[in-house]
Amino acid sequence: LPAPIDAPAVLAWYDRHARDLPWRVAPADRARGIRPDPYRVWLSEVMLQQTTVAAVKNYFLRFTSLWPDVFDLAAAPLDSVLKEWAGLGYYARARNLHACAQAVVREHGGVFPQTSAGLQTLPGVGAYTSAAIAAICFDERVAVLDGNLDRVLARYYALPVPVREAKEELRAALQASVPSRAGDFAQAMMDLGATICAPRMAACMLCPIQPGCLATKEGDPTRYPLKPAK
Ligand code: ADE
Repeated sequence: LPAPIDAPAVLAWYDRHARDLPWRVAPADRARGIRPDPYRVWLSEVMLQQTTVAAVKNYFLRFTSLWPDVFDLAAAPLDSVLKEWAGLGYYARARNLHACAQAVVREHGGVFPQTSAGLQTLPGVGAYTSAAIAAICFDERVAVLDGNLDRVLARYYALPVPVREAKEELRAALQASVPSRAGDFAQAMMDLGATICAPRMAACMLCPIQPGCLATKEGDPTRYPLKPAK
């Protein structure tokens, strides 16, 4: 695949337009050196799998007020965790959440591993979640690739095949684009996919990477990603 994504443009856009979300660190706090808390980032990423940002916000606030850190969550009865999870769906996620908190406490002294490889050893933490936490909390230069990013990249590269036939190429292209502010870049790309490069409408005039986007040059970005033939 051709040119990497213009990361400086993405970061400049994020500095102006980042969504204010409860698991993020506000710019003023960031300027004082405050880093995202792995517990809160992990909790948000698990909740955000298969659930929208709008739906997750209130659950996240409720969980973090009941259980402010990983020790609190590990010590909570599983029943209470499942009860608070009600409505989010996919209850295996809640069971894994509790098991993961207990593993972090028992096997890591309450401190989350600081690399994507280390994070992947935790219950329920797969390739996506480990990459997201490692990038956001520790600026590990790792590609954070979810379904929204698949769409953004398929458009950016006018990908001539369905995404599932080019997963590794997309990952390599994204990986080659990740700057040192890896966490901001990952979250910027998520915000871009959610707010600008949306599934049925692309607000290309507002997009910081529009100048390099091959689908825009063709004229109809929503043509991508191509659907797999049945
Ligand atoms: N979707 C999944 N993770 C997210 C994050 N950290 N910010 C915004 N949207 C997300």
